[in-house]
Amino acid sequence: MSDYIVRKHLIVRGLEISPPIVLAPMVGISHSAFRTLVQEQGGVGLMFTEMLAAKRLPHDNELISPLLVRDKSEKPLVYQIIAANEVTIGPAVEKLHKLGAEGIDLNLGCPAPVHRRQGAGAVLAGNLQQLRKVLCLLRKSTELPLSVKIRLGRSHDVDELRSFCLFLEAEGVDMITIHARLNGEKFCRKPRWAVIGEIKDAVSVPILANGGIFSPADARRCLELSGADGLMIGRGAVEQPWLCADIAREVYGIGTKSVQKERSDIYFQFIDLLELRFAQERRLGRLKQFTRYFAASFQFGHHLAASIQNSDSIEQARQRADIFFERSVC
Ligand SMILES: Cc1cc2nc3c(=O)[nH]c(=O)nc-3n(C[C@H](O)[C@H](O)[C@H](O)COP(=O)(O)O)c2cc1C
Repeated sequence: MSDYIVRKHLIVRGLEISPPIVLAPMVGISHSAFRTLVQEQGGVGLMFTEMLAAKRLPHDNELISPLLVRDKSEKPLVYQIIAANEVTIGPAVEKLHKLGAEGIDLNLGCPAPVHRRQGAGAVLAGNLQQLRKVLCLLRKSTELPLSVKIRLGRSHDVDELRSFCLFLEAEGVDMITIHARLNGEKFCRKPRWAVIGEIKDAVSVPILANGGIFSPADARRCLELSGADGLMIGRGAVEQPWLCADIAREVYGIGTKSVQKERSDIYFQFIDLLELRFAQERRLGRLKQFTRYFAASFQFGHHLAASIQNSDSIEQARQRADIFFERSVC
């Protein structure tokens, strides 16, 4: 067996992350209903919102915006922002303070064309002069933990990645999540966890490793190769909302109080949560996005995914899911 250290909790600028298993920011998925679903399963030490445009944030109404609706039980919660320059930072941070954010994360990895064109996400990561201004203002504006989420970079250059992480640290960043893929790489490509291991020792702030963790065995292997201080889980937790609890138990030796539920019960609980948290017109789209991933945990899940995708209402989706679950062995 290889040697690796499993840190059971992290303290980042006074914020305790215990266990250091973190739910990833995912557009259309990491909302209040999903966060509650995963949190109830247990094993999550920290959750992220999906990325929020810093420019729009101050104008969004937290009582109705599906991006900002939050139950007080969803804690600790880091709000991830995406910005192209420092102009929008002050008002965005002010809003996040009002919302009771437990931390603020800056997206420096998103390769989506819309953000690329604006100079945000991965493009901002490549513009150190501009990034310095953004980080400097962020650091000045908040005492909250400040983190960033990055990818490995434009090319396979470990020295560049190391220097970039040291730059982030020097600019006052308290924690770095590294999605172990290069900027342009698709999610189907195998993550390069070992590259994180090559820079880990040079960096003093905690590092979370992210990408391609779908089982406790993946989590173990990722920790082994990356030496990371914690893990961030995205699609794996949508596919299996109990995955963080499984990793907490099997890798970290931390039991959770969650009650084991059938997968069908978890699905219907998610629909109930969507109904509880969102206006009617916001529910079905989010159910479809969730189902795309959740269905993968079933042998014939593509039937579930397709039938939900073609549903015209939540009620119809519920009935179709019921039929699917009755026919499958859960
Ligand atoms: C549907 C979807 C939406 C995403 N949205 C965001 C986002 O808002 N911010 C971000 O930093 N990363 C986002 N990501 C990337 C994830 O946070 C994560 O880095 C990626 O999915 C790899 O981790 P995984 O293999 O555990 O899913 C998104 C990924 C998916 C699949």
